[in-house]
Amino acid sequence: MKVAVDGIVREAKTDEFLIDLITRTGGSVPHVCYHPQLGPVQTCDTCMVEVNGRLVRACATPVTDGMAISTKSAKAEAAQVEAFDRILSNHMLYCTVCDNNNGNCVVHNTTKLLAIEHQQIPFRTKPYEVDNTNPFYRYDPDQCILCGRCVEACQNVEVNETLSINWEDPNPRVLWDGGSTIGESSCVSCGHCVTVCPCNALMEKSMLGHAGFLTSLKKSALSGMIEIVKGVEPETGYGSILQISEAEHAMREHRIRKTKTVCTYCGVGCSFDVWTKDRHILKIAPEHGPANGISTCVKGKFGWGHINSEDRLTTPLIRENDKFRQASWEEAIALVARRLSEIKNKDGADSLAFISSSKCTNEESYLMQKLARAVIGTNNVDNCSRYCQAPATAGLFRTVGYGGDSGSISDIEKADLVIIIGSNTAESHPVIATRVKSSHKLDGQKLIVSDLRENEMARRADLFLHPKPGTDLVWLSAISRYLLDNGLAHTKFLDQWVNGLDQYRKSLEPYTLEAAERLTGLSERSIRTVAHMIAEAKATCILWAMGVTQQSQGSDTSTAISNLLLITGNYMRPGTGAYPLRGHNNVQGASDHGSMPNMLTGYQSVDDPEVRQRFETKWKVTLPSTKGLDNHQMVEAIHAGKLKAMYVLGEEMSIVDSNANYVEAAFEKLDFFVVQDIFFSHTCRYADVVLPGAPSLEKEGTFTSTERRIQRLYEVLEPLAGCRPDWKIVQDVANQMGAGWHYQHPSEIMDEIAFLTPMFAGVNYERLAGYKSLQWPVAADGTDQPLHYTKRFAFPDGKARLFPVSWIGPTDQPNAEFDLHLNNGRLLEHFHEGNLTYRTEGIREKTPDVFVEVSPELAEERGIQSGTWVQLISRYGKVRVRALVTDRVQGRELYMPMNSVESPVNRLTSSHTDVVTNTPAYKEASVQMKVLAEVGESPLPRINPRFGHPTPQNGVEVERKWKRADYAPPGNGNGLVQLQTKK
Ligand code: SF4
Ligand code: SF4
Ligand code: SF4
Ligand code: FES
Repeated sequence: MKVAVDGIVREAKTDEFLIDLITRTGGSVPHVCYHPQLGPVQTCDTCMVEVNGRLVRACATPVTDGMAISTKSAKAEAAQVEAFDRILSNHMLYCTVCDNNNGNCVVHNTTKLLAIEHQQIPFRTKPYEVDNTNPFYRYDPDQCILCGRCVEACQNVEVNETLSINWEDPNPRVLWDGGSTIGESSCVSCGHCVTVCPCNALMEKSMLGHAGFLTSLKKSALSGMIEIVKGVEPETGYGSILQISEAEHAMREHRIRKTKTVCTYCGVGCSFDVWTKDRHILKIAPEHGPANGISTCVKGKFGWGHINSEDRLTTPLIRENDKFRQASWEEAIALVARRLSEIKNKDGADSLAFISSSKCTNEESYLMQKLARAVIGTNNVDNCSRYCQAPATAGLFRTVGYGGDSGSISDIEKADLVIIIGSNTAESHPVIATRVKSSHKLDGQKLIVSDLRENEMARRADLFLHPKPGTDLVWLSAISRYLLDNGLAHTKFLDQWVNGLDQYRKSLEPYTLEAAERLTGLSERSIRTVAHMIAEAKATCILWAMGVTQQSQGSDTSTAISNLLLITGNYMRPGTGAYPLRGHNNVQGASDHGSMPNMLTGYQSVDDPEVRQRFETKWKVTLPSTKGLDNHQMVEAIHAGKLKAMYVLGEEMSIVDSNANYVEAAFEKLDFFVVQDIFFSHTCRYADVVLPGAPSLEKEGTFTSTERRIQRLYEVLEPLAGCRPDWKIVQDVANQMGAGWHYQHPSEIMDEIAFLTPMFAGVNYERLAGYKSLQWPVAADGTDQPLHYTKRFAFPDGKARLFPVSWIGPTDQPNAEFDLHLNNGRLLEHFHEGNLTYRTEGIREKTPDVFVEVSPELAEERGIQSGTWVQLISRYGKVRVRALVTDRVQGRELYMPMNSVESPVNRLTSSHTDVVTNTPAYKEASVQMKVLAEVGESPLPRINPRFGHPTPQNGVEVERKWKRADYAPPGNGNGLVQLQTKK
C-alpha cells in the first residue's frame, strides 16, 4: 500500500497502525498511552492526526491504501496539545526532583515535543493517598495520568487481572481488585504495570530517593522546591524548567549504569537491563528481551536481595577440627588441588565426582566437565537436570532426536490448543504462562490442563483433568490409540515423516478407553474429548514439567507425549511441538555443555572414538571412554565406599536431592568435599573446603533457556570483595593441578566450545552481543533454529521414530500406614529451596514459610485449619510444617512447596528413580499426617496475593471513559482555548 505522510509517499504494511508507519519511516507523532508491546490503549488522545480531513487516533487506526495523513496540520496539532493539556491536569511536572527524570519519562518528553509552555487546565490533586502497601512499588494517584497502560499490561499481558480504572467515578484512579490496597490485593508483584507506566505514578521503591541528585531530600524540603518551581512557571514557562531538569538528568547519566543481564531464576530466559548506582540496584528494566519483552515475574523484577545480602560468603573456608576457619584463596586452592590429586593417586580418577551448577553459566559448566575429564580423568560429572529434566530429554531423544523444546515461546503463543501436563506454569514459568493466558483470553486459544492440583492454569482451562497420580502415560496412550483407531491420526505426516507405526500401534493395544478410565480415574468421555480437541486443532503444543518427569516412568511418559504429537502431525510447523519446561535458568545449558556422565558438549557421546579424539587433540589429554556416574549413582557409590571425593558447584544437593537424610549420610562419609557457592548453604555444612563464587550479576557468560535460546549476561557489578567468578575458580583449581589453562574471558571458552561442538559451531560472543540471541543448533554461518525440525528430524534418515512404551505404575504408593499421597513443587515467589529468594525482604514478607496444602474435606476429617501444625512422616523421614487448607488440592492428596531449608520436602521423598535416567521419583511419595496440638498463624499471611480477588476485564475499557459526560474528543470544539506553544 502507498500512503502520504505529511506529503511524502510511504510504503505501508498491511494491518499496520498509522503510529507504527509514521515512526518506522522516520516521522514522529506525540503519544503517551501507546506502547508497541501493549497495542492501542486509546486513552490519551495525544496521537491525533488528520486523515483525509478527519481527526483520528494514529495508535488505533490501521493504514488503508491511498491515505493522506497529516501529523502537523493545524487541526492535528491543536488536538494533540489539547489532549496533552488534559493529561497535565493530572500530573505535576516537578522533574528536577523526580526519581523518574531519567530521559525516558513520556510525560516530560511529550511536554518538550509539543513545546508546551503553560498548561490551560490547572493541575488538581485527587482525593486519594499514596499507596505504599506493596513492598516493591508504590502508586501515587496524584501523578497518575490515567493512561491505562498499567491496566492493559495487568489485564491482557500478565493476565493477573488485578487492575482497572473506575472511569465512572468523579475522580478516576487505578484500582487494585476494584478498590483494595495494593498490599492486600491479588497483585503478584510481577512489575508489568510499573515497567510500562510512562511517568512516576508507579515507581519501584528501590528507585525512590536514590535515582536523582535531589530526590533524597526530606519531604518538606522537596515540597518547598516544588512550590518554588510552580511559582516561577507562570513567568518562565515549562521550557526553562525542563532545561534544568534535563541538566540534572545528564548528571545522572554519569552515575547510573544500565547493564543487560539474563534472569538468574527460571528457565524462561527473561532478559533485562539492571539499573545500578554503585552497588545499589535501582531497578530492573525489561523491554528488549527476545523471550519476555516487558514481562517479568516477581523474582526477576524484584528478587535481587541476595546480591548485597550480608551473609554472602566473601572468603574461602577450611574445615579444621570440625569448625570452619577463614583461609586465603591461595591456601584454599592449594588444599583442594592437593587433596583431589592425593585421592586420585590413591583410589583412582573414578573415586572423584563433580557436580556443575544449573545456576552457573554455560562456560562454567564446560570448564567443570573439562576439569573432571581432562584434569582428573573421570566421566563422573553431572548437573541437576538429573533431578528434573533428564527424562524429558530422553523421551525426545528417542522420538525426534534432540532433547530440547521443539519451538519457541512464540509458537506456544500461536497454538490453537495448548495442553499442560504436570506443570504449575503460572508459578514455575510465569512469563510463559502469561503468553498462554493472554492467547486464551484474547485469541480463542484452547487450553487443557492435567494436574493433581487445581492450579491457576487449571482454573482457566477449558478442560481440567485430574488423573490418579502417576497415570499420565495411560491416558496419553489411550488418546493415541483412540485417534489411530478412529482414523483421526495425521496419516500424511506419518507416511512422510515417521517410522515405527506398526510396532507402536501394537504397543497401544492395552490402552483402551475402558482400561484408561479404570487406571486413571478419568472418564472415557473426557479422554475422548481431549482426543477430538487435538484432532480438530490446527496446531497443538504440549507443555510439561516435573509433574511428569519426576516419576518412576518420567522418560516413558515424556516419550508418550512426543508419540502423541507425532501421530497428530504436531511437529515441524509454527504453533506446534513439545515443550518440556526447563526449571533453572541454565539447566538446559548445563547439560548442553557437557556436564553429563555420558555426553561431552552438544550431546556428543563419550564412547564415540571420533568424538573423543577431537577433544583429546584439542585438550592434549587422553579421555576416559566409559560412562561416568550420574548424581544419583554418586550417592550410592559413596555409601558403597567407592566414591571418596566430590566437588559441588552451586547446588544445594543435600536437600534438593530426594531422600535427603540418605544424601546427607553419604556426604558425611566423603574423604574430601568441596562446595562452591555464594552462601553458606546447607550442603556447605558437610564440606571440607568452601569456595565463595559469584552470582550472575557479578560475571559474564551465557545462559541457555528452555527454548534453546543462548543469551549473554554482562557484569552488572564487580564481584563482591573476596569472591571470584566461578569460571575463574575452576580454572585456578585446574591450573594448580597443572592444567595450564589461560582463559582471560568467557568468550574464549565459548570459542573453544564452538570449535569442538557441531551443534554450537556458529556461536560466538559477537553474535550474542547485547540482546541478540541464538537458538541452537547454530550452523557455522550463524543460522539458528527458533523452530526445530522444519526440514528433517535429527535421525540419519530425517524421520522421527515412534517409540513404544508401557505403563508399570508408580512406586511408593499409599497404604494403610502411609495413607496420603504427597505431591511437591515450586511456588511463584520462591525459587527452589529459597536460598536466593528468602534474601529479598519483600518476598519473605509476602511468603514467609513453607506449608502443606490440605484439602477442605481432609481438613474437616482431621480437625485441621490453616495454621495447624502437623507432622508428616514418610518411609524415609519426617518434617514438621503448618497446614494450609485449600481447594487447590483434593481428597487425600497433599502438596508441599519445596521452598524450605529447615523443613525440606525431600526428608520425605524416596530413592526410587525413573527407570531410564535415574531422575528421582520425587512425585511418588506417601506419608502419614499427625495433627499436632499447636495452632499457629496461617502460613500464608493475608497480604499474600492468593487471597486477593481479581477483577477480570478486557483491558482498560476506554469506551467507559468516552461515555463520561465531561469527555469530548479533542479538536471537536469543547470550549478549550488553544494553548500557548513556542511553535
Ligand atoms: S499483578 Fe501487580 S505488579 Fe503485576 S501488573 Fe498487575 S498490579 Fe502490576
Ligand atoms: S499508574 Fe497506570 S494509569 Fe497511571 S500513569 Fe501509570 S500507567 Fe498510566
Ligand atoms: S524467574 Fe523466570 S519468568 Fe520470572 S523473570 Fe526470571 S526468567 Fe522470567
Ligand atoms: S497514543 Fe493514541 S490515544 Fe494514546
